[in-house]
Amino acid sequence: MSVIQIKDKKFAVSIPEETILKEVSRVAAEINRDLAGKNPLFLSVLNGSFMFTADLMKRINIPCEISFVKLASYQGIASTGKVKEVIGITEDLTDRTIVIVEDIVDTGLTMQRLLETLGTRRPKEIHIATLLLKPEKLKVDLDIEYVAMQIPNDFIVGYGLDYDGLGRNYKDIYTVVND
Ligand code: IMP
Repeated sequence: MSVIQIKDKKFAVSIPEETILKEVSRVAAEINRDLAGKNPLFLSVLNGSFMFTADLMKRINIPCEISFVKLASYQGIASTGKVKEVIGITEDLTDRTIVIVEDIVDTGLTMQRLLETLGTRRPKEIHIATLLLKPEKLKVDLDIEYVAMQIPNDFIVGYGLDYDGLGRNYKDIYTVVND
């Protein structure tokens, strides 16, 4: 299936599973090397990063823990835009080495919000691992140490990422086709 239709849009395979897994393995090796002895706590950001998290964690071979967070969007009472609240952190983050596991960093605003929230819980250090980065869209200054793949500024689905809730189940990454 190299072309799929989701609602009004067509998508074509742009990154096959084999390539994804090669880059995920590389990132895992970097983390194994850099964070050995630190008992990192991986915080996977649902829903989009579930596939990346599973494949990454299968390749992490240092002692570590894993937990899952979600971002709930709600309309701020007095604010102009949507506020994203981080939900699901039950662990004590004090003095911990945290690795945020995210599906994609686009403008970076979501990641910035996560960093602000986690920062208030006094972790020792926070590292970022993202499957994908759209460097052309990045609006904020972020230190993203672990990037599996950089992609152009096109909309993608598959391997956990969705279009309107659909498409997360595909094992490859698909890019929208303009026709
Ligand atoms: P940011 O706050 O602009 O960095 O957006 C990050 C979030 O937007 C990601 O966690 C995704 O949920 C979503 N997103 C950004 N680009 C895409 C895409 O191309 N496909 C699917 N979701 C995307």
